[in-house]
Amino acid sequence: MRVDVVTIFPDYLAPLGLSLIGRAREAGLLDLRVHDLRDWTHDRHRTVDDTPYGGGAGMVMRPEPWGEALDALTPAPGGGAGPRLVVPTPAGRRFDQAMAHELAAEPWLLFACGRYEGIDARVVEEAAGSGRVSRVDEVSLGDYVLNGGEVAVLAVVEAVARLLPGVVGNAESLVEESHAASRHGLLEHPVYTKPAAWRGREVPPVLLSGDHGAVARWRRDEALRRTAARRPDLVARLDPAALDRRDLAV
Ligand code: ADE
Repeated sequence: MRVDVVTIFPDYLAPLGLSLIGRAREAGLLDLRVHDLRDWTHDRHRTVDDTPYGGGAGMVMRPEPWGEALDALTPAPGGGAGPRLVVPTPAGRRFDQAMAHELAAEPWLLFACGRYEGIDARVVEEAAGSGRVSRVDEVSLGDYVLNGGEVAVLAVVEAVARLLPGVVGNAESLVEESHAASRHGLLEHPVYTKPAAWRGREVPPVLLSGDHGAVARWRRDEALRRTAARRPDLVARLDPAALDRRDLAV
């Protein structure tokens, strides 16, 4: 998969050289390229922002450098398939595991990191109609405000890249974890390792019993309990067909 990121802070993306993602890049599974938006400015101060029309606090990113950056990084219309453009913004569609899977199926993603009060709205409009990108998504990590898109890109790229074949060593760990499709939208059960007693706290005895059926039932019960306590919104969305009689007793 190819991933391009345009930002005024290329150093912010340095963690994508570490750990599993760094290794995926070295192995050629992920072709990640970070670009400085200021390379597409032409004034002495390399200006990327200006005051908002209509007044108000803060600054807005000017459309010209963004237009030039997107033109430089995407094929001309008819010149082959362009990337899917992803613009992180608190005003976007909420990012979740389903979207991570959707993005992981794309051959090419291009992230545009806004700063300040955001990017002039014409940039996304123009890109969507340009024929240079396959589609445009404005994506939010959640209902809170970051200083810019860079931290959102770190999260989205990590969530997406680990779904690419060969990036995570043990594919089973992908299936088991929170929000994976096979868990039917339940949070993951709590986990324990050795020692069996620590600071007076014991590991639940069923996990030491060797009874695989009982362990599976206990994990399912804990997942249901946790989800009901922490994420009632997920419980409300559960498919009734995915529940069995024992679940209803929890
Ligand atoms: N940029 C600023 N806040 C953000 C958020 N919550 N999600 C995505 N991008 C953002």
